This record gives sequence, C-alpha cells and structure tokens, in this order.
Amino acid sequence: MKIVLAITSSIAAYKIPYLIRALKKEGHETRVVLTENATHFVTEEVITLLSGEKPIVGNAYFHEKTSLHIELSKWGDVLLVAPADYNIIGKVASGISDDIVSTTISSFRGPVLFAPSMHDVMWNNPILQDKVKYLRSKGYYFSGPDSGELLSGDKGIGRLEEIEYIIDDVHAAYRGFPLEGRKILLVYGRTEEPLDDVRVLTNRSSGKMGLALAKEIKRNGGYLIQIVGKKEVEEYKRDEVIHVSTTEEMKNAICDKIEDVDILIMAAAVSDFKPSKRERGKIRREEHALLNVSLEKTEDILKTLKEFKKNKIFVGFALSDDIEHVAEKKLIEKHLDMIVANRISSMESGKSTGFILTKGGKRLLFNDMPKERVATLILREVLGFVT
Ligand SMILES: Cc1cc2nc3c(=O)[nH]c(=O)nc-3n(C[C@H](O)[C@H](O)[C@H](O)COP(=O)(O)O)c2cc1C
Repeated sequence: MKIVLAITSSIAAYKIPYLIRALKKEGHETRVVLTENATHFVTEEVITLLSGEKPIVGNAYFHEKTSLHIELSKWGDVLLVAPADYNIIGKVASGISDDIVSTTISSFRGPVLFAPSMHDVMWNNPILQDKVKYLRSKGYYFSGPDSGELLSGDKGIGRLEEIEYIIDDVHAAYRGFPLEGRKILLVYGRTEEPLDDVRVLTNRSSGKMGLALAKEIKRNGGYLIQIVGKKEVEEYKRDEVIHVSTTEEMKNAICDKIEDVDILIMAAAVSDFKPSKRERGKIRREEHALLNVSLEKTEDILKTLKEFKKNKIFVGFALSDDIEHVAEKKLIEKHLDMIVANRISSMESGKSTGFILTKGGKRLLFNDMPKERVATLILREVLGFVT
C-alpha cells in the first residue's frame, strides 16, 4: 500500500516513528506531511531516516516544484492522519485548507482515516463529537481513540490507538470497511476441564488461527466480540473480549452474545470430554496407587446454537486426520454455512493444511499455509455470504 501519513500536534506524535517503522516492515511505502506545530513533538530528521524521504512541514510546500497536495492525492492509496488533534478534525469538518496537512486532506481522493489523540475533555467536547459524527457521515473513517492513562495522569478516552491496531484499520480503510456495521462473534483458544482445583483436562491448541482471524476481521472493519479460552498467543484487545475457561463457561458466554451478532466464527478447541467429578483441593498422590478418572462428554456447543441460527452466518472448524469424511457431515449436522477442516498437524503450528468447504459445495484447499493467509481466505468467503 502507498500511505500518505499526516502528523498533527498531539503529544502522541512521538509514537509515529514506530508507526512508520511498522508500516515499512509490512512492506508499505509512506510519504509524510506535518503541521508546523507537530515538529515540537517529532523531528523531521527522524521521519526522514525512517521513511526514506524528507517530510513536508506546514507551508513549506510552496517551495516545491509541483502541487504537492495533488501529487500526493494521485500517489496515495490511503491517507492516515495520526495523531489527529482536535484542531485538524475541526478544520477538516469545517472545510478549512490552510497548510500542507489540511490541504492534502481536502484534495485526497482515496479513503481518509483519522487516529485521534487528545485529553478526554477535548474528545468529549460536544463540538468535536458533532464534527466526528459529521465526518463519519461524509465517509471519513476513525481508528480509536483508546481509553486509559492520559499524558496529564488522568484516566479517560482519548489515547492514540495502539500502533498495531491503527495498521489493521489502515487495511480496513483501504478495503472500504466491508464489514462495517456487522458484529462478528469469534470464539477461539482451548477449554480447560478441571479434575481438581489444580489439574485440568485440555488440549494443545495455541489460539494462532483465532488471533489471525481476529486481525483479519478488524482489517475488514467489523465489530469484533472475542470469547477466548486459554491460549499461547498475545491478547488482541479490540472492541469486546471475554475470557472463559470451561466448555460450559464458553457456551454460556456465546449464548449471552449470539442474539446480537451477524456472524459466528467458532474456532475454539473445545474439550469433547470432562472429568465426571471435580474433586475439591488437590488429589493426593499418596492416597492412590492407581487413579481411575471417569470422563463424560461435554455439550456440543455448535449443535446447541441451532435455535439462534436464523439468518446468521455460522462458520465452524474441524480438526482431524479424517477431514475428507467428517467435514461435510459436520457442516450439515451443525447448521454451518462454512467449515474449515484442518489436519492435526495444524495444531500449535503457525501453518495449516486442510480445506474450506461451503454449504454451496465450494472447496478451497490450503497446504502448509501460514494461518494469516488462511484467515484471509476464510474472511473472503465470509464476505461473499454477507454481500
Ligand atoms: C504540550 C502540548 C500538548 C498538546 N497535546 C495535544 C493533544 O494531545 N491533542 C490535541 O488535540 N491537541 C494538543 N495540543 C494542542 C494543539 O497542539 C493545538 O491545538 C495546536 O494549535 C494544533 O496545531 P496543528 O493542528 O496545526 O498541529 C497540545 C499542545 C501542547 C502545547
């Protein structure tokens, strides 16, 4: 992607060199413009070193050989304003074009994404909120702001969104937020069924596929509700995250949310069995020469969700070395629109082998494919159901 990056003067501008680096690492090109005031918080020299090109500041574009704002409009796929201060949001909403940043925004043809950053008193100012609403109604996109500790030491909404999440939103803006307004319930991670207060019956699922799907959902602009069991991967703290441990907790959390969502993606590794009895405390080694544990079947979550299906899109997963035989049966039995069948070798791995089967009979094979790419394939099919 070719990204025009506009920096305005919020203190969070000091984080932007990290953003430029991260964009470069993903293979994107950036060209940078800054307001005069933004140079108090980030230096032109750092930006030049990281982006590979000298940025244009304030009104210095009058010295350029071409109309830089028009050139950038032709060059860029996406315009990202980060950090977007109170001033620039007000200026753009009021049709003001008085320096390189506001003029570039006024003449940009592609999608524009604002990543606001300011104290929560400024963010909650009704004048600003009106401007944000107005800009949204005109097709401008927003990434964040996040809540948490602010520069002043106060807590509230107004922090610059995490760099990683801004980049996901840049992708969504580039694609035109195709899942905007859709709520997606994504369930992943593994369940744990307690044997006593110390030991659990679980499996080796890492949550890598789930994390890749979470990112891909946001990269398509959907509202993401994550119900997450135990996992090895990092937290993806966007929209709503609910943590669960047992199969029953997972089922209850899904039932609480399912009515309100458009799409369910069930990528969790749910235990098929649980100890029939949970002992209190710790079963003592000395008291058992041989310990027999009896297991009973857990509830099949997807099967119990039948009554909620209606016109929602249901995507399920299967893990087996016999996927050719089980995939179609599961697709029908579990009322799915699509099933992602993986071989057991996919477990814990960053790559996956298997196929996607849709209820229309479409079959897409993937062989030793990075889970990020499998997630892209899955979301592409989901988008086909939505549109
Ligand atoms: C130390 C300091 C920190 C500031 N931090 C912010 C901020 O986080 N967000 C914001 O909207 N404005 C902030 N401002 C106010 C803007 O810098 C001010 O509105 C400025 O006129 C905006 O200019 P520009 O939009 O041309 O960059 C801050 C100002 C100062 C002096």
